[in-house]
Amino acid sequence: MARIAEEFGTPVYIYSRATLERHARVFREALLPLGKIHLAFAVKANPNLAVLRVMQREGFGADVVSGGEMARALAAGMPAEDIVFSGVGKTRRELLKGLEAGIGQFNIESEEEGIELAEIAAEHGYTANCALRVNPDIDAGTHEKISTGKSDNKFGVPIDQAASMYQRLAALPGMNMRGLAVHIGSQLSDLRPLELAFEKIGALLGNIRERGGTVTHVDLGGGIGVPYKAGEVMPSPAEYGHMVARVTKGWDVTLMFEPGRVIAGNAGVLLTEVVRVKRNANRDPFVIVDAAMNDLARPALYGAWHDFDAVKPTGQRMVANIVGPICETGDTFAMGREMDAVERGDLAIFRTAGAYGATMASSYNSRGFVAEVMVDGDKVASVADRILPEDIYAAERVPEWLDD
Ligand code: LLP
Repeated sequence: MARIAEEFGTPVYIYSRATLERHARVFREALLPLGKIHLAFAVKANPNLAVLRVMQREGFGADVVSGGEMARALAAGMPAEDIVFSGVGKTRRELLKGLEAGIGQFNIESEEEGIELAEIAAEHGYTANCALRVNPDIDAGTHEKISTGKSDNKFGVPIDQAASMYQRLAALPGMNMRGLAVHIGSQLSDLRPLELAFEKIGALLGNIRERGGTVTHVDLGGGIGVPYKAGEVMPSPAEYGHMVARVTKGWDVTLMFEPGRVIAGNAGVLLTEVVRVKRNANRDPFVIVDAAMNDLARPALYGAWHDFDAVKPTGQRMVANIVGPICETGDTFAMGREMDAVERGDLAIFRTAGAYGATMASSYNSRGFVAEVMVDGDKVASVADRILPEDIYAAERVPEWLDD
């Protein structure tokens, strides 16, 4: 860590190739008994090209939600047919790009989108492989901002309308309706809501087939939670695999999965340096670190917990508020945290930062974009150079007429 801080500066994300690979393999092994499976890494969790390359080498395709993510997956060497295009607001341009690239499956989130896609496909002489994303109206029991399977969320089509919609869409030229998709939320700590959702999908599958429809693929999404606190226990991939095997028995489809956090979350940390410790009388000190909410947004956005540990713990402990330098109170990583005692200049890490970390960074307060490195044994390499504020404002223009 000290070597990385020296060479690349702080704050910096550090990803472990070995951990990514181990997570990919454990996940795959847990699902192998299911027969025909397709694994698509959720690019949104960590779109770094080197991370995607690791996943590609592990035989994963990609779940993408924008033209940008699709371009990254392709640039990382993922075959187009292994890419699933999800997302509630794909533009006509993105749909056409997906068709041109030959991506494997579009997960359609509304009848309107399906009709538009069919039109575009027919017009340009393509056939679009599609799954209909269903909203099963199930409370995933996770943070409301990352819950996606309740009927008042924007995602998917209402399950009671799905069978007839599937039939209508399947009849359109340019359209190959081949499956169903579901994803009820992220950071799920309990498998029960997933199981209920999958049971509903099983019933829908039967209903569609009874009406003469063809279903060869079911995409079960992502969502398995990971431990953010030492000692926290989350469902294991093996438990998830057993549950899926039980619920999907007899479906006779290719099962597709879109894991993100469970692969990348604990394969990354955010390394930061303590700028100073600010002590006020009668209250916990503020440990001010050089990482901020623009680098790791989860605590500010969701009140998320990230374990924070000194790189060289002294054995002493302290209770402190951990904050970044940004000029708003939201830039707080933790209040009243019991933690390793740290002082100015010490290095520390936020753990479980490999998913939804760098990818959600911004340049707020003109702090630039955080750097990313990957380690592999004793090898270390930059996988994303720091983008400096000057690089960002190089794209900005001051119109001459301002000075008229
Ligand atoms: N598939 C779909 C359709 C999704 O919307 C998502 C995540 C995934 C797969 C991957 O889910 P995972 O396996 O990672 O749980 N920024 C939030 C998380 C947002 C998740 C959005 N969708 C966070 O930092 O907690």
